[in-house]
Amino acid sequence: MLVTTDQAVALLRKNEIVAIPTETVYGLAASITSEVALKKIFEVKKRPFFDPLIVHVENSKQAQTLTSEWPQIAESLSENFWPGPLTLVLKKNELISNLITAGLERVGLRCPQHPIALEILRKFKNPFAAPSANLFGRTSPTCAHHVEVEFSGLVPIIDGGSSQIGIESTVLLIDGNELAILRPGQILAEDIQNHLRNKSIPFTWKNKISKNESPGHMKYHYMPAKPLFWIEGSIASDLIIKLNQKLKELPSEVEGVTIIKPSQLTQIEELILPPLAREAARILYAELRRMSENNSDCIVFQYQEYMNSSEWEPVLERLRKASSAHIKN
Ligand code: TXA
Ligand code: MG
Repeated sequence: MLVTTDQAVALLRKNEIVAIPTETVYGLAASITSEVALKKIFEVKKRPFFDPLIVHVENSKQAQTLTSEWPQIAESLSENFWPGPLTLVLKKNELISNLITAGLERVGLRCPQHPIALEILRKFKNPFAAPSANLFGRTSPTCAHHVEVEFSGLVPIIDGGSSQIGIESTVLLIDGNELAILRPGQILAEDIQNHLRNKSIPFTWKNKISKNESPGHMKYHYMPAKPLFWIEGSIASDLIIKLNQKLKELPSEVEGVTIIKPSQLTQIEELILPPLAREAARILYAELRRMSENNSDCIVFQYQEYMNSSEWEPVLERLRKASSAHIKN
């Protein structure tokens, strides 16, 4: 069911969830003050409670009302990159429930750039939590139609067109002066580094991230509805035999994510991406979804040498985790 912005705000006030467009991917929003609505997010997505939710705010002033520390790094990065695809992970205060943070002491905060998401935040006058609007472990949606299919039309949606960025925000942990990228996105480590150096703000990159600091990091994630294989090197004539073999060796589930295993692969389709990383990111999820509906049995992605750059890393991270197996020839 499609709804208007005003209807979406009314739903948020009534402890309901609503799918909303953002510039990265579509999100499934719930008021941060409604335990009932927050629980619905986990239920609808079939998401385990160990995976924390990102809280969306109207601006940095609102973000500061939810944190117990607001370091200069957060001030400067939010001023420069918000609204935009950057999530800052900072010490939370008592207004943020354990349901949102999976019991962690830090919360992920982001001010989205999509005009509809911002309009909701302004009208609602409260922050909302929003994970990507897809089933746990599967490909994120980048248009209203994807969300409708994902939840069989059971979730109200605002149609805000196709997401311009196409992959989820960069998640940055701020731990004192130590920073760590918990999830790569369009805003790169070098963008963050250049900004802070220009402002003469001291920081270092953390060299080890514990599982506890990034609980949402699974081996398999973003998976399409049919197997995807990552191929490195040439595509050899015995590829189909190798793919079938690999598929047989795989478990049917890892960390709560189901690995789709058709009994026999015969028809392969290749994922072709545009040569510019940002354009590839924009269409990636829509392509994976479109190809999942074709009559091929699996998708192959052939890694190319020119993708060995920082701009491609966020796209490659998605493809690595969305792949059932990796094959080197
Ligand atoms: O672009 C985006 O960030 C989208 C749109 C809707 O805003 N949202 C999104 O949410 O991608 P989700 O739930 O699909 O991914 C959130 C991820 C978690 O899996 C986790 O890796 C990280 O962000 N995260 C969130 N809160 C965190 C926290 N407190 N500590 C560490 N990591 C956190
Ligand atoms: Mg997600």
